[in-house]
Amino acid sequence: MLYAGVDLGTSSVKLLLMDEKGNIQKIVSRDYPLYFPEDGYSEQNPDDWWDSLMDGMEELFAGCNKSQVAGISFGGQMHGLVTLDGEDKVIRNAILWNDSRAGVEAEYLNNVIGKDKLSEYTANIAFTGFTAPKILWMQKHEPELWERVRKIMLPKDYLAYKMTGNFSTDYSDASGTLLLDVRNKCWSKEMLEICHIDINQLPKLYESYEVTGTLRKAVAEKLGLTENVKVIAGAGDNAAAAIGTGTSGDGRCNISIGTSGTIFISGSSFMADSNNALHSFAHADGGYHLMGCMLSAASCNKWWVENILKSNSYDKISGLVEEKNLGENNVFYLPYLMGERSPHNNPSIRAMFLGMSMDTSQAEMTQAVLEGVAFGLRDSLEVARKLGIKINTSKICGGGARNSLWKKIIASVLDITLEVLESEQGPGAGAAILAATGCGEYPDIGIAIKEIVKVSKVIEPDKTLVEKYNYKYNGFVKIYPAVKQLFN
Ligand code: XUL
Repeated sequence: MLYAGVDLGTSSVKLLLMDEKGNIQKIVSRDYPLYFPEDGYSEQNPDDWWDSLMDGMEELFAGCNKSQVAGISFGGQMHGLVTLDGEDKVIRNAILWNDSRAGVEAEYLNNVIGKDKLSEYTANIAFTGFTAPKILWMQKHEPELWERVRKIMLPKDYLAYKMTGNFSTDYSDASGTLLLDVRNKCWSKEMLEICHIDINQLPKLYESYEVTGTLRKAVAEKLGLTENVKVIAGAGDNAAAAIGTGTSGDGRCNISIGTSGTIFISGSSFMADSNNALHSFAHADGGYHLMGCMLSAASCNKWWVENILKSNSYDKISGLVEEKNLGENNVFYLPYLMGERSPHNNPSIRAMFLGMSMDTSQAEMTQAVLEGVAFGLRDSLEVARKLGIKINTSKICGGGARNSLWKKIIASVLDITLEVLESEQGPGAGAAILAATGCGEYPDIGIAIKEIVKVSKVIEPDKTLVEKYNYKYNGFVKIYPAVKQLFN
């Protein structure tokens, strides 16, 4: 049988077709625009996602035996606010995970309602990118639009809704709304009251591997598939990527270097960081996870290479960095292009270079960008270490993980062994595994992962470099407290 995994990303939707043994048959992608209407705003049109999905799916299924297609599932960019009216029309552009307009509302939730209460109701505190502060922002700034809202959705769930007609989400993605009681896996009635939301405006909750419906007739016809094709709930992109890299069960770690950068630590039972610097979310395997999320990771390198150096060759620019200079750089880069989530929770901070002199080269600044992202990841890892969590090994995925120099830097900055996968397709592969499990191909996610996910290469931290980077990291952590007041 065949299973389609949809990775609804921030710059494109990536689709893959996998057979029941986990072999990837085809990969297709479609780009769509991202809008930054004001500093700190980040939006997309949900109908661009849908049109790109349908267009991509036609290509994905072309030439395959369509009667073999059994299930479709999703990994989706998290936290986005999608709103539909009574006629199922999209009311406004989706407000995305890296949008920081709701700073005032996040502060209201954290300081007036209070972090203790939020933590008790949801296991998390408010970050501007989370869905609840955006809902409060919309109520205050666009009351005439808010009046029309009948359904509140997360990005991937809009696609599933258009496919099946069923209004659904999964626990991992719902965790990032700040409306879910994560420990008990149900909508929090306290949060619904605080955010003036009627429960009917929210989707029905499922485990990520559960079937939520089958294809609507019109969709099935358009794609040349049968109406029996099952749609499986899917997961937030980080939980889906973790499934795709085999990160499930106690104490496993996955690092994703995509537009955002995340450290994802899985566990079979509920876990929380008492300071809430790390998110406490449900996992797509039925368990839970802790996650640190930096808002700009591979996007820092993209900004540097494409916008500043006006190059389209990432290899050429990374190739300027000489390995002998790793750990010797005097330039620091703070990766806060869109503000920062973990661990600073500061939407106002912005990126910066520090420490340049007359002889600073493009190579050193490039190196600083790669190192700055690695230091940002370490900030989250240090929070986990302080909680007593020992991480010696991690999987790694995402566009940035294709850069071998960056992987070397990350392994030594974090002082952990990185496991690189035979086929690294992150959220799309995870979504296909969820679809296969939901359709009964595997009895559970753990067994599916064991059968499908294979490590091909191991990158060990370089002990000399680890020491040098420990020294540099001690410098890096002093910069943010020294400069943050400049950005209030
Ligand atoms: C996770 C987060 C990002 C997005 C990126 O909390 O905000 O990783 O999901 O797509």
